[in-house]
Amino acid sequence: MNKSPNPRHYLTVSDLTSDEILILISRALKLKKFHKSGQPYRPAMGKIMGLLFEKPSTRTRVSFEAAMLQLGGNVTFLSSTDLQLKRGEPLKDTAKVLSRYLDCLVIRTFGQRIVDELARWSNIPVINGLTDQHHPCQILSDIMTVMEHKEKKMRDMKVAWVGDGNNVAHSWIQAASRLGFALALACPEGYQPDKEILSSAQAESGAPIMLTTDPQEAVENSDVINTDVWASMGHEKEAAKRREIFAPYQINEALLGRAKTDAIVLHCLPAHRGEEISEDVLEGPRSVVWDQAENKMHLQKAVLEWAMRLEEAVSSPYALNI
Ligand code: CP
Ligand code: NVA
Repeated sequence: MNKSPNPRHYLTVSDLTSDEILILISRALKLKKFHKSGQPYRPAMGKIMGLLFEKPSTRTRVSFEAAMLQLGGNVTFLSSTDLQLKRGEPLKDTAKVLSRYLDCLVIRTFGQRIVDELARWSNIPVINGLTDQHHPCQILSDIMTVMEHKEKKMRDMKVAWVGDGNNVAHSWIQAASRLGFALALACPEGYQPDKEILSSAQAESGAPIMLTTDPQEAVENSDVINTDVWASMGHEKEAAKRREIFAPYQINEALLGRAKTDAIVLHCLPAHRGEEISEDVLEGPRSVVWDQAENKMHLQKAVLEWAMRLEEAVSSPYALNI
């Protein structure tokens, strides 16, 4: 069983070095090819992954479940409403107990503090499947998708983020500082990224991480344009107000005119057509959102292999040259 005194948690992008990020992505690309070849690869036989979700999810939940099942492991979904957590059992006790049953835990919740506390008391890997502050697995599959669609190296690209300075934006900011690509964020006043996350990334990064309120400026000459919903989970009551404030931040053909002619468009999904992205862009030739969604499954496999140290659990899956 994988009960390590030093479990490999993945809580924010900053938990990984640039080398680790690139290794995980290149591993995910190999795992994708191997999966398409139809050959089985089951290094997680006998392992159990728990998914503790306090918010809805289509992609993260199902991609992690499919990834673990394809790796030969088992999954158990833990709806927070069914756990004693809801009746006040401390996170610390929950973490200690789940560590006795499971080999890995993916959590989606509200505050990053909850994930940090669970990880602190778990001796199995804890993986952040989204908090209000971060969405670290998402960004790895996003960058994997960029690398699949672009010949250039990541560090030679300009990425634009247009919209809310939210959890996904924060993870992009940390990824930019780790990998050293240029990132330009256009967010309205009052909806800008966390100042601390931004300034520490800017201080560490070798490339510019720029914040503006002007979407045209951010998108100018970019290789990748990225957006997300205007009202994240937990902000539903502000949706109408946000629709007004964010109206100039829609990714549409006119805005794409400022980007490079071969620029691609990302969206982590779910998308609101006609709000943060127009229907024609989402379904158009520059959009790579469906590949991006698929890649979550291949990337989650690489994260699970790494987190559960599956290379140590079987003789040498890496020697399989997949
Ligand atoms: N992109 C993403 O995390 O989607 P879900 O909310 O469906 O998991
Ligand atoms: N920012 C969005 C991402 C959904 C995958 C949210 O937190 O709801």
